[in-house]
Amino acid sequence: MMGKRMDLVVTLLLLLIVIVTVATGLLADATGVPRSLFHRYSGYALAALVAVHVALRWQDLVRTLGVLAWRPGQESFVPRDRPVAVSPDRPPERLGRRALILAGAAALSGLLLGRWLWRPALPVDGATDLGMAYHQWSKPSYQGVLAKPLDWGMPPGSRETADAERIALPREISAGEMSLDDAISRRRSVRDYAARPLTVEQLAGLLHLACGITDAGRGLRAAPSAGALYPTEIYPVIHNVDGLRQGIYRYLPDLHSLELLRGGDFRTALLLSCLGQDAVAGAGVVFVLTAVFQRTRWRYGDRAYRYVLLEAGHIGENLYLAATAMGLGPCGIGAFLDDGINQVLDVNGTSEAAVYLVAVGAR
Ligand SMILES: Cc1cc2nc3c(=O)[nH]c(=O)nc-3n(C[C@H](O)[C@H](O)[C@H](O)COP(=O)(O)O)c2cc1C
Repeated sequence: MMGKRMDLVVTLLLLLIVIVTVATGLLADATGVPRSLFHRYSGYALAALVAVHVALRWQDLVRTLGVLAWRPGQESFVPRDRPVAVSPDRPPERLGRRALILAGAAALSGLLLGRWLWRPALPVDGATDLGMAYHQWSKPSYQGVLAKPLDWGMPPGSRETADAERIALPREISAGEMSLDDAISRRRSVRDYAARPLTVEQLAGLLHLACGITDAGRGLRAAPSAGALYPTEIYPVIHNVDGLRQGIYRYLPDLHSLELLRGGDFRTALLLSCLGQDAVAGAGVVFVLTAVFQRTRWRYGDRAYRYVLLEAGHIGENLYLAATAMGLGPCGIGAFLDDGINQVLDVNGTSEAAVYLVAVGAR
């Protein structure tokens, strides 16, 4: 009795974990995530459950196959005393109620899946998704300038963080001796990191070379920005940097300082919001890049969205190259749950939203 119940529990767990493994694999594939921690662990759990299942059903397995009973010269692998499975004069089974319910449920799930996958036609010709529609919609033209509304509001103020603790970063910046050619050709996305912490000097160097002030007179920065409007905020989420508390910080380029927004260990929060990608937990720091859309939108209107994403890309590449030159490992992360990351940063996801993450760790 006990054995049967155990067998049933293992079978149900097996079913569940098969679904989780398939779903996490499909999700990782669909979102372009090369390695998902959830998929890896559910794979291990699946292997363990298969082993337990086989162990519990070993007798059945052996009996069914008849391998152990077989001797050379015997006609078949199946032992003589094995009961005949189907009686030849048994009447053919009719379609039972359970089969009908299952068929109905399958039809309903198919219908719901179809409804879920179906998308209404987009208002722009030739567009099959919102991104393509937006791309067409945001093309500038002389007629467009007249046809589209011209008032896109005013530039917004900065995030209020009056009480936040400020930490001045070292001003001596060095990315080491590596040439630009070498940094570009050696740049790779690295997802496995050593446990060694980053130094504050490395962190300061990464931030300055990513988006620090490089022309103090005119307030211009390391990465280009449409109209020098700088819509990108950069939030280093620090896991392992020598001399700095773990927590969420904001970089203030004008002061080359950090502002501590919230202390704490955010490795699990990032891991969950990045679909189990372990790079975001193993890194010394994860730079979360957000866009404050209105900073660019008030001037560039419906083209602004293109610009803010391009600018995050510029900063991301600066981080990649600076990290490579310092002998560190960078990895850009585009597959994340927006709401989760926005919540971690305490930004509302509409006027300001996370657009890109770059994890950097020791190698
Ligand atoms: C916009 C963008 C999003 C990316 N998102 C992820 C991601 O979510 N997870 C990941 O492991 N790598 C991500 N990558 C890194 C790519 O997988 C990587 O650049 C690609 O495999 C090429 O390898 P390389 O960077 O080493 O040349 C992303 C890269 C870019 C540019």
